[in-house]
Amino acid sequence: MNRLHSKCALITGAAQGIGKAFAARYVAEGARVAIADINLAQARATAAELGDAAIAVEMDVSQQASIERAVGETIAGLGQIDILINNAAIFSAAPIVEITRADFARVFEINVAGTLFTLQAVAKHMLARGQGGKIINMASQAGRRGEPLVATYCASKAAIISITQSAGLNLIGHKINVNAIAPGVVDGAHWDGVDAFFAKYENKAPGQKKAEVGHAVPYGRMGRAEDLTGMAVFLASDEADYIVAQTYNVDGGQWMS
Ligand SMILES: NC(=O)c1ccc[n+]([C@@H]2O[C@H](COP(=O)([O-])OP(=O)(O)OC[C@H]3O[C@@H](n4cnc5c(N)ncnc54)[C@H](O)[C@@H]3O)[C@@H](O)[C@H]2O)c1
Repeated sequence: MNRLHSKCALITGAAQGIGKAFAARYVAEGARVAIADINLAQARATAAELGDAAIAVEMDVSQQASIERAVGETIAGLGQIDILINNAAIFSAAPIVEITRADFARVFEINVAGTLFTLQAVAKHMLARGQGGKIINMASQAGRRGEPLVATYCASKAAIISITQSAGLNLIGHKINVNAIAPGVVDGAHWDGVDAFFAKYENKAPGQKKAEVGHAVPYGRMGRAEDLTGMAVFLASDEADYIVAQTYNVDGGQWMS
């Protein structure tokens, strides 16, 4: 505990799910956190649960003005940003012949442009402070290979792995480490949506896809948000100073199987 003592973190999409688990663990490790989310009411509820060390910030990562406002509010509220977790993203799936340009654009605006331009806004602040920083992007096993019904989301997560490499190489000269985490399958609202999609396209009963993917994980179950928090603390800590532009699988062995 206390591995992030006196650090300040901006975590996007932190009102629920994995981002919320990151925020709770960061607070337990001594950090102060900004819970940034498009859902302000839920961000406020999450920040209230975490107490004085957390503030809620309204943020739509697909809108440049919102990114800049949220980064400014975080700096005003916490004093600085030492750590950014680019966690906000949406899932989308469709057979190739049913993908629409509108949905493709929406997913790329949130998942890819949202990550890149939030990273940019925070990197400008870190460069101006001159004290380095840690940036963690949320990739996915979906970014490591395509899936027949998930072309757009998989491509968006492959882009995150690539942006992590470029930004990592570009910024390490200023002691800003950019790395990524690639989860496998993590239970929660996100996967409830995935399950509903496969129920429709693969004629499965509700819950069936989830049960199948859980059994297929070598560890023996789906991931829980808390399974990812150790890596998020490590990558944000001084112990990760020499780690640059990497994407780490945290997936119960799924990618290897
Ligand atoms: N759950 C999984 O199985 C899984 C697997 C691999 C990767 N991931 C990745 O982990 C991250 C978190 O996933 P999760 O399961 O907690 O998802 P989630 O859907 O439970 O939470 C996503 C959060 O992002 C917020 N959000 C959505 N659009 C936003 C926007 N435009 N601006 C700001 N906030 C926005 C939502 O309000 C929500 O609070 C995502 O990047 C996801 O792609 C999840």
